[in-house]
Amino acid sequence: MTTALITGASSGIGAVYARRLAARGHNLVLVARATDRLSALATELIQAHGVLIEVITADLTDSSQLESVIQRLRSEPAIDILVNNAGAGLIGDFTTADPTEMHKLLQLNVLAPTLLASAVISSMVKRGSGSIINIASVLALLPEYSPGIYAATKSYMLTLSQSLAAEVTSKGVYIQAVLPAATRTEIFERAGGDISKVPNVMEVEDLVDAALVGFDRKELVTIPPVPEVAAWEAFEQARGVLASGFSNAEPAARYRS
Ligand SMILES: NC(=O)c1ccc[n+]([C@@H]2O[C@H](COP(=O)([O-])OP(=O)(O)OC[C@H]3O[C@@H](n4cnc5c(N)ncnc54)[C@H](OP(=O)(O)O)[C@@H]3O)[C@@H](O)[C@H]2O)c1
Repeated sequence: MTTALITGASSGIGAVYARRLAARGHNLVLVARATDRLSALATELIQAHGVLIEVITADLTDSSQLESVIQRLRSEPAIDILVNNAGAGLIGDFTTADPTEMHKLLQLNVLAPTLLASAVISSMVKRGSGSIINIASVLALLPEYSPGIYAATKSYMLTLSQSLAAEVTSKGVYIQAVLPAATRTEIFERAGGDISKVPNVMEVEDLVDAALVGFDRKELVTIPPVPEVAAWEAFEQARGVLASGFSNAEPAARYRS
């Protein structure tokens, strides 16, 4: 049996990943701060699916607690799937943001998933198998829509996924970036927002089920709400056209006035 480690498994997207991966027969390591919620979920999933479940209570913004998750990723039984899901929003614009809050957000949304991926990827490469699912956001591609640093943290997750995929896909390790749009979870209320004011909210089960279809197809980037994959392919093609202009030793003529 394979084992999946899911961060932020106590609610929202992470809890649905836990339910779906347990139903597929994976043993789980559930990580979040709320031990009571993790334990209740573990009991439910052991009874429903007979899988093995470990619970790690950890605040991923605390370096020693993050270290306990890193140690689990480096130990046995080996982790076959890492779901880098834990994350939070930060309402408000950059000009007025509290630097301490920004620091915590960067630790949770950027530093923790990076170090967790780092802790597990070399053993996956050695085995020639394993998957890392990084939960980014459509705001990675639409930062103008979101003031403050949240979109930048999610853009980092997309870019990290693309870099990792370029490095490890040929070694048998699969990387997926999932870009949800507005999804019905606790994230809005936790950040001081109001989900009832957000239009076109996707149900969290629909989001995760769609993301898992993308996972099974081994997509690098999965954007569940986008109706036509051609839109993403056109975007990627445009990126390729732009990139073909990067390898010039001279500045473009328009900058040589
Ligand atoms: N919902 C959306 O519209 C949406 C859209 C795009 C992307 N996303 C991304 O989806 C991911 C999951 O969010 P969600 O929407 O499912 O929100 P959620 O219901 O608020 O879940 C967030 C999860 O992260 C955990 N978490 C928060 N702070 C933590 C910390 N310091 N240490 C460890 N765990 C922590 C929470 O557990 P504890 O409180 O128990 O620690 C919870 O399990 C996030 O990365 C988010 O950026 C969400």
